Parts: sequence; C-alpha cells; structure tokens
Amino acid sequence: MSRGGARGHTRVKTARSRTAQSTRWLERQLNDPYVKRAKAEGYRSRAAYKLTELDEKFGFLRGSKRIIDLGLAPGGWTQVVRKRLPGASVVGIDLLPVDPIEGATILQMDFMDDAAPARLIEELGGAPDLILSDMAANTVGHPQTDALRTMGLVEAALDFALRVLEPGGTFVGKVFAGGADSSLVAEMKRNFTTVKHAKPPASRKGSVEWFVVAQGFKGVRPPEVEPES
Ligand SMILES: C[S@@+](CC[C@H](N)C(=O)[O-])C[C@H]1O[C@@H](n2cnc3c(N)ncnc32)[C@H](O)[C@@H]1O
Repeated sequence: MSRGGARGHTRVKTARSRTAQSTRWLERQLNDPYVKRAKAEGYRSRAAYKLTELDEKFGFLRGSKRIIDLGLAPGGWTQVVRKRLPGASVVGIDLLPVDPIEGATILQMDFMDDAAPARLIEELGGAPDLILSDMAANTVGHPQTDALRTMGLVEAALDFALRVLEPGGTFVGKVFAGGADSSLVAEMKRNFTTVKHAKPPASRKGSVEWFVVAQGFKGVRPPEVEPES
C-alpha cells in the first residue's frame, strides 16, 4: 500500500492473496471521504451519512418516538437515530450479530421469519411512527437477480409498515433501480400523502440503490391474509 500522490490518494498493490476485485474494494474504502469521516466521528458504517443526508432533506427524524431499523448491521443508522433522538425507543433487526448500541434493542433474526413482526412490536412496546429499511440481500453478481431479491425485502418491509405504522408515520426504504420499483412506489402513493425518491450524496454514484421516503401514512390497513387450510 502506498500513501501520497498529489491528492493523498492511497494506492493498494495487488497481493497474491487478494483478488483484483478485493484490491479495488480496499482502494475505494481507503480513499472514500465518508469512510474516513465515519471513522473520525465514531460511526460504524459510511451508511450513517445516507440516513443523515436523507433526514436533512426530508426531516422525518424530528419528533419520532418509536423507531424500527430493519437490516441494521453494523449499526450506523441506529447510531444516528440514538444521537438525534436520545429519548426515543429504537429496535433494530439483522441476520448478522451487531455489537450493542447504548439505548437500542437489537434482535439477531431474519426479518422474513413469521415471528419477526410481532417480536419487533413487542420489543418496541407500541406502534412505530418511523420504519427504516436499509436491508439488502447478499449480492450474487447477477444485477437483475440482486435487484429482485432486495426488492423482495423492501416489499416485505412496506407490507409490515402498512400493518403497524401509526397514522401519520414515515417509511424509508432502500430500493434497487430495475427491480420492479414502480409498483412499489404506486403502492406507497396510495398509502402515504407524500412519496419521494432520493439518492443521497453518500450513496455511491455507480450503485443502483435509491431510497424512497414515504411520509404521512393514511392509516388504511391491508386486508389480513387468511392462513391456507
Ligand atoms: C447495507 S446493510 C445495512 C447498513 C446499516 N443501515 C448501517 O447503517 O450500518 C444491509 C443489511 O441488511 C441485512 N439483511 C438482509 N436480509 C435480511 C433479512 N432477511 N433480515 C434481517 N436483515 C437482513 C444484512 O444482513 C445487512 O446487514
């Protein structure tokens, strides 16, 4: 690895043990201003700035009292929520283990598990007024498959939000362009007074991720699904 150059760009030499792809990833991480900032400011992920920037634009954190963070690992979004809203209840869920975050409840569990929705509400102690989903499926390298798998997660997150959000509440979800996002946005528009798409500056330009911010839940619940007999 060599530091320096006219603008302090860090170059990473290809080592025999590293693939070209992981060398590129490491070089990008080392030169990413958000990674440096996250390290300096004590955030566990550069993703923390995506939520910060979305909130600067839409102002959904202010006044929120009960928040659910879907796919929280390693915890940047929950850290931002705790910092901005020290009095709020926060429950996060992830498949991966997450180091404790003071004041937040963390479930290591699959959100797609039938028991997850009830556990989240039980831990939160009431209906949420803000649901955040930064969930992303592990990528397999096939863009359409990756987009559809992540869209499946955000669709499940939206369905959960429609069932449990307090009227007037907000849903923020990560979507992948090209993954049937238009029907999801249509569903949001039916259920929220304002729905906006945004790509915060901290979201890498080359990535297909976008965020949808749906505010002002109208309070109409979807019909209950009858269990198959
Ligand atoms: C981009 S990361 C989230 C980063 C996080 N917002 C932060 O600020 O640190 C996406 C997360 O979604 C989680 N995830 C994917 N599928 C999930 C599922 N079915 N249930 C729970 N978490 C899931 C992944 O394990 C991963 O940690």
